[in-house]
Amino acid sequence: MANVITFANQKGGVGKTTTAANLGACLAETGRSVLLIDFDSQGNLSSSMGADRDAPGIYQVLDGETEARAAIQETPQERMHIITGGADLTGASVELVNQARREFFLREAIKPVRDDYDFIFIDSPPSLGLLTLNALAAADNVVIPLQTEYFALEGLTQLLQNIKRVQGSFNVDLELFGILFTMYDSRTRLANDVVQEVIGYFGKRVFRTIIPRNIRLSEAPSHGIPVNLYDAECVGARSYRKLAEEVLQRVETASAR
Ligand SMILES: Nc1ncnc2c1ncn2[C@@H]1O[C@H](COP(=O)(O)OP(=O)(O)O)[C@@H](O)[C@H]1O
Ligand SMILES: [Mg+2]
Repeated sequence: MANVITFANQKGGVGKTTTAANLGACLAETGRSVLLIDFDSQGNLSSSMGADRDAPGIYQVLDGETEARAAIQETPQERMHIITGGADLTGASVELVNQARREFFLREAIKPVRDDYDFIFIDSPPSLGLLTLNALAAADNVVIPLQTEYFALEGLTQLLQNIKRVQGSFNVDLELFGILFTMYDSRTRLANDVVQEVIGYFGKRVFRTIIPRNIRLSEAPSHGIPVNLYDAECVGARSYRKLAEEVLQRVETASAR
């Protein structure tokens, strides 16, 4: 049964999509099978993998129009697949509002393929709306990417409250898997202060691996490939490989408990 991990933060531009794509690719490099689900109406994850966004995606699966398995596409990374997302998801959040069990649509939608992968990654939109609730209700784990900047902590309390709410209602098994620092610039003292403050508060929940700012990470998406295939030895690729190892260790530790 796949470990379902949702990447969430209602702030945009913090590295959710970049992390889903590149952590996924690095886990696939180690031999694990990974399914990416693009659950953002911007469809950035889909385009960063060069996926066909005209083919049926997660919206059509939620809708019942397409079977989950039929919506799966290959990506340039071996062992990593994707179900695309896009503009039609904006409609989904409206259409779901009046449905019974409206928080569970994604959870139900991915059930048929849960046994087919080691990891399913859900990239969520920059909001705390119904799509993000669905993404949290469908997950075993949540990863919160945080940009190392002064306002990074703004909104974090609200996000954590939402996660607690989901844990208390729709998904008692949801775990805060970790907090991930992204776009780190070691030259600024501020970045270091933010890191220290968050570690002080969240302790071991913070991933030891910190993703630095790296131009390769921002270039790879326009080529439709993950960073490890774009420039295998750049610092961005090496960082996500290191994160993949840390994730695997955490999964082992958690299953030993
Ligand atoms: N570590 C990094 N170094 C440099 N650029 C990055 C890094 N992580 C993300 N980016 C770039 O920053 C922008 C926002 O990242 P993205 O992953 O799309 O955030 P989100 O999904 O949270 O909105 C994108 O243009 C992406 O390419
Ligand atoms: Mg995104």
